[in-house]
Amino acid sequence: MGRATLADNVKGKDFSELPKETKTNTGDTNKVSNTNKNRNTTTSDSSRKKSRRRHKKMMTPVVSRVQRLFDTCKDVFSLSGAGIVPSADKIEQLRAVLDEIQPADVGLTPQMPFFRPPVTRRAPPITYLHIHECDKFSMGIFCLPPSGVLPLHNHPGMTVFSKLLFGTMHIKSYDWVGDAPSNASAVVDPSETVQHPEVRLAKLKVDSDFTAPCNASILYPADGGNMHCFTAVTACAVLDVLGPPYSDPDGRHCTYYFDYPFTKFSVDGVSVAEEEKDKHAWLQEREKPEELAVVGALYTGPEIVEN
Ligand SMILES: [Fe+2]
Repeated sequence: MGRATLADNVKGKDFSELPKETKTNTGDTNKVSNTNKNRNTTTSDSSRKKSRRRHKKMMTPVVSRVQRLFDTCKDVFSLSGAGIVPSADKIEQLRAVLDEIQPADVGLTPQMPFFRPPVTRRAPPITYLHIHECDKFSMGIFCLPPSGVLPLHNHPGMTVFSKLLFGTMHIKSYDWVGDAPSNASAVVDPSETVQHPEVRLAKLKVDSDFTAPCNASILYPADGGNMHCFTAVTACAVLDVLGPPYSDPDGRHCTYYFDYPFTKFSVDGVSVAEEEKDKHAWLQEREKPEELAVVGALYTGPEIVEN
């Protein structure tokens, strides 16, 4: 059993359980007293000290799971920079901490107003609860009402952990095909000469529904589905950890994309085996979608102490 679980057990104890501990302690003390009859005073002092130590231990504040996440991120992303992927050990460490986190650990319940179904046919707004951002990493929660969409976007040079806290979400993600031209001019039909704006070939990585509880998914600068789109099948919440975070001054912009079936365009010099065509797509850069509304709200979970 890990330290975290033990700590959580202590956190879970209510006051009515404390006398059981006291009773056990008394038993220990008696045992000592019976075998040290000439040292009653010393034993009594010792027993009081023991009791104080136990009491102090029980009173020691339990580290919240979100604090543990923050502390782990500080360690895992200590050398963070564009394109720098933490070691496999560090990644597993962070994933394990994330996988322990429940909605209540970050102050969330599915009854909160930002999870309510939309009342109009317009794309429902998505709420972002900012937890922390520094130059090494960022932590925050996307809260999506049913049918909410975070459109296809990239994470340049980043390692990203996404933990679905509750609900069902469809994730579609792609990685660039390494040897494909980065911005090729496509034609709609090879027999025509109509030029299409620049597109780039990508390979489908994930195209599935995920329902909580499920493990955190991880994407990397060049694989794992660096470009992804989230669609809320039901109301859902995703805790996102990015290392390093987006930064316009450092050239890490969030770029949005359209995705088109491979068969829609052809590009000189690019071919894909017939059976692989449905696993490939053309991505075309686009402006930030007009219908996308992400509104900030106050994070109300346990406070993080930056020590
Ligand atoms: Fe993302």
